[in-house]
Amino acid sequence: MSLKVTDMSPSIGSEVGLGREALLAGTHTAQIRELLEKRGVLVFHDINFSDEEMKDFALTLGAIQDGSTYENGIFKVTFDPEHNPQGLTYLRGTLEWHIDRTDIDVPPLGSMLTPRVLSPAGGQTEFANTYAAYEDLPEDEKRQYEGLRVEHRSEAAISKRVENPTEEQLAAWRSNPPKLHPMVWHHQSGRKSLLLGATASRVDGLDEAESDALLERLMDWSERPEYVYQHNWRMGDLVIWDNTGTMHRVVPFDMESGRRLHRVTLEGVESIQAVA
Ligand SMILES: [Fe+2]
Repeated sequence: MSLKVTDMSPSIGSEVGLGREALLAGTHTAQIRELLEKRGVLVFHDINFSDEEMKDFALTLGAIQDGSTYENGIFKVTFDPEHNPQGLTYLRGTLEWHIDRTDIDVPPLGSMLTPRVLSPAGGQTEFANTYAAYEDLPEDEKRQYEGLRVEHRSEAAISKRVENPTEEQLAAWRSNPPKLHPMVWHHQSGRKSLLLGATASRVDGLDEAESDALLERLMDWSERPEYVYQHNWRMGDLVIWDNTGTMHRVVPFDMESGRRLHRVTLEGVESIQAVA
C-alpha cells in the first residue's frame, strides 16, 4: 500500500500519513525503514502512543535498547529530577548538535520520541541531514576529508553547557575513553555521511588551530537551513530519526518547565569502522 508522504523540506523531514493502528500492525515496516534512511526524520501526528505501544511499534522496526538509564525500555528526556535524576547535567549536552553514542562503534540506528509534558516556549527538536551535507560538499573537499579521523569525547559536548564541572562530573564524563572515527562514514548502503557534532573534539593529525577551524567550517556547513528540520512538538506526536545520518539538538527552554519526552531507541545495525 502506498504511503501518504509530505516532505517538509527538500533534504530532510517528512510527515507520514499513517495512524496508530497501522503503525502497531507493522504492515509498513519496510517502507518506514526505507523512508527513514532517505528523509532522516519522520513525523506522525495524533498517534498518542502509550509507552508500551511505542515499544511495540519500535519492535516492528528492530531490536530496542534497555539498560540502567532506561525504565523498562523507556528513556525519559527531561531535566525533571523526579523522572530522570541523572539527566540534569549530561542532558545539557543535547543543546548542542550531536549524534547519539559516538563513544561506541555501532551507534543506535535511530530513536523515536513522544511528548509527555511540553515547555511553554522553546524545546523544539532540530535535526540536520549529514548525508545531504556530505553529498553537497565540493568534490575537492570530499577527497580531502576521505582519510581523516576525528576523536569523539562525550565530555566535549557536555562541557560546553556545564560551567565549572566538579571533579566527580568530569570523572564520570571521562569514564568512556575517546573514540577515533572516520570523518566520513561509509555506510553499507554505499552512501556516505559526515560524522560530526559536539562530541567531535579533534581532527587526528592536525594542530589544534587547524582542527578547530576545520570542525567549525564543517559544522557551519552542516547546520545550514537547507539541511535542517525543526520539529515543533504537539501532544500525540511520534517522531523517528535516523541517528546514523542526522545530528540533532534541542532548542533552549525553561529547564524548570517539566518538559518531558519519552524515547525508545533502536539498536545499531552498522559499525562505523566496518568500511573505513
Ligand atoms: Fe541525543
